[in-house]
Amino acid sequence: MNRLRSLLLVAFAALSAASLHAQWAPLTHDPDAQQRIQWWKQARFGMFLHWGVYSIPGRGEWVQFAEQIPVDQYALLATQFHPEHFDANAWAEIAKAGGMKYMVLTARHHDGFALFDDPGSTFTATKSAAHHDFVADYVSAVRKAGLGVGLYYSPLDWRFPGFYFPGLYQTSALELKAQYARQIDQLASHYGKLDILWFDGGGNEWLGFGGLQFTGSGWQQRPKSQPYAGSFDWEDTKTVGHLRQLQPSLILNDRTNAPADFRSREGDGALGDFDNTQPWELCTTITEGAWGYQPGAKVKPLAQLIRLLVGAAGRDGNMLLNVGPRPDGQIDPPQADRLREIGTWLAHNGESIYATRGGPWLPGPYGVSTHNGTAVYLHLLKAPESGTLSLPAPPVKVLSAQLLNGPAIPFTQTADTLSLTPPAIAPDNLDTIVKLTLAQPWTSNSVLPVPTK
Ligand code: GLC
Repeated sequence: MNRLRSLLLVAFAALSAASLHAQWAPLTHDPDAQQRIQWWKQARFGMFLHWGVYSIPGRGEWVQFAEQIPVDQYALLATQFHPEHFDANAWAEIAKAGGMKYMVLTARHHDGFALFDDPGSTFTATKSAAHHDFVADYVSAVRKAGLGVGLYYSPLDWRFPGFYFPGLYQTSALELKAQYARQIDQLASHYGKLDILWFDGGGNEWLGFGGLQFTGSGWQQRPKSQPYAGSFDWEDTKTVGHLRQLQPSLILNDRTNAPADFRSREGDGALGDFDNTQPWELCTTITEGAWGYQPGAKVKPLAQLIRLLVGAAGRDGNMLLNVGPRPDGQIDPPQADRLREIGTWLAHNGESIYATRGGPWLPGPYGVSTHNGTAVYLHLLKAPESGTLSLPAPPVKVLSAQLLNGPAIPFTQTADTLSLTPPAIAPDNLDTIVKLTLAQPWTSNSVLPVPTK
């Protein structure tokens, strides 16, 4: 029964967290924005790591909230957190082997435990059993491996009643805000150059998870049409402005109220629509279940993960794939093995993913397309019904068609239609990639529609 209750709470929490993302921060109009995000748009694929004291109970990063573990009792986990196999170089090696180009580590999640030193808090890895600054090791290992350095940070912290009721617990809410400003300053000033700050749980609409207002018929979620109207303000623009001053080339996602560089989509189900008008990233997990470590969690099949990566690239987005290292610091071997399989696939097919843009054909029943210069890659995720794939012809001549790293494929191009006859797609095939070479580079942002069948 308790298990059921906690599952329901997790489901509620995840649902309310996800539904909050509808109210996005604006994207920045900073003149340097296009340039600073360029490397990230080319990188396409990154590793997310959720790791902290919640990895010890192994019931996901929401365990404290979901099981309503008293703050003092939860804090004792820090006395057991001394990961004997932590090796940030090993993490970076696995990310590289997986074909990932950047990494994002939970410097601090909603439970408040900081993996870095904060002079204003004792709930840190430096002042508990580990006596170690994991962020310092991580940043230097990731940098040394030549990958983009990202940190995740949650302004919200469950230990502060002021997060839930900022009006009622004003002092606590102000302390929470001060912690946010101080920790962001700490992260931005002591670890050298950072590339990504990945916020989660910031912005006024997250207060109390967007809810907990008393209406007479009980505590309820705030309807989206009635955003938080209390006096508390995270002052994101101030804190994030300071952050940008300290780290001018940093890029940020959209989970605070401050202008962001890219949008976050969360979970396999949020792959969503094609969008080449703004940078975005799908974050999701390599295992079924939570983001933090869960012993024995099922690792998603290779085909599912490849299709998500290809699906994101073909919709013009990135993918940030999460692993939840064990409390001893190691990435669970079944997860590391799966990443290496993805890396092997990318070693053969990476030219159709890295540095490409989505399109020109929109995603459809055939699969998706990506392009780079004169090369267009058709990712056939399903065999064409008649054996022939017919697409609206591009307004430029197709010079050749071939399987990527394979033989030529028969095709015809008329004013209206491009028809291709790819070889039969085996049912277990991950992705059949046809490479077209155009007479001129495809530089336009415009897209070509696809037949719906
Ligand atoms: C959610 C959850 C969180 C996870 C994050 C990743 O918002 O609160 O546990 O870190 O998504 O996107």
